[in-house]
Amino acid sequence: MIKILMVGDVVSKSGRAMLETHLKAIKEKHQIDFIIANGENVTHGKGITKDMLNKLLSYGCDAITLGNHAFRKDTHQSLFEHPSLIRPYNIHKSAPGVGTRVYEINNIKIRVTNILGQVYIGELKPTNPFDALDEIIALSDEKVHIVDFHAQATGEKMALAYEFDGKVSAILGTHTHVQTADERILEHKTAYISDVGMCGAYNSIIGSRPNEVIYKSRTGLPASFEIAVGPGQLNAVVVSIDEETGQASEIYRININPEKQFNY
Ligand SMILES: [Fe+2]
Repeated sequence: MIKILMVGDVVSKSGRAMLETHLKAIKEKHQIDFIIANGENVTHGKGITKDMLNKLLSYGCDAITLGNHAFRKDTHQSLFEHPSLIRPYNIHKSAPGVGTRVYEINNIKIRVTNILGQVYIGELKPTNPFDALDEIIALSDEKVHIVDFHAQATGEKMALAYEFDGKVSAILGTHTHVQTADERILEHKTAYISDVGMCGAYNSIIGSRPNEVIYKSRTGLPASFEIAVGPGQLNAVVVSIDEETGQASEIYRININPEKQFNY
């Protein structure tokens, strides 16, 4: 049995601080073998830089997945060749990096894949996520396969999960920054949750300071969103997988915030 922790989108300083404070304790208490974090918002809310990648690795993350905000103008393309970094698979062929990688821990191979949804995702012009996952599965023989499906619409996430139930170990949603309570093991033993959630400022609107979001929502007028600061929250899920079959037997949520300090 292998236990994998998937951490929801890490947003800027408050999110990083939560990982720095809690990640090693979570790993020990839950006997985690491998940690994946979504890092597409780790550098001031958008994208990832070398410094921030190194910070995530120093906190104990093994693999960093990304999303529609993967790329920044000030991030050198060579960063995406880093073996811990996985950008969305189903984007233009000229993009740097790869969308699926294989890791090995305790002689167990773990494939980690990052796929973008197409519904309400404006950036990166993602291609069909179903075809993308078909393509990856056809070329891979690892039993343990974790898919971070970075997508907005729960319907699209569930459709991918039902279609690939039994073909991958877990389909874990990211991007909305709100942890959903629908974690389950599907009929053919794929673990699923619509969204793992966020590591970021607790008093925020999905990581941003409320004032500007309220202004834009209320008036329809443009506003520059600011990253919120202050006490953080940490959202994650733990998935237990049989390394012989690749089947998941358990998925549960972790949610730490100022009102749930001891919930891990
Ligand atoms: Fe995103």
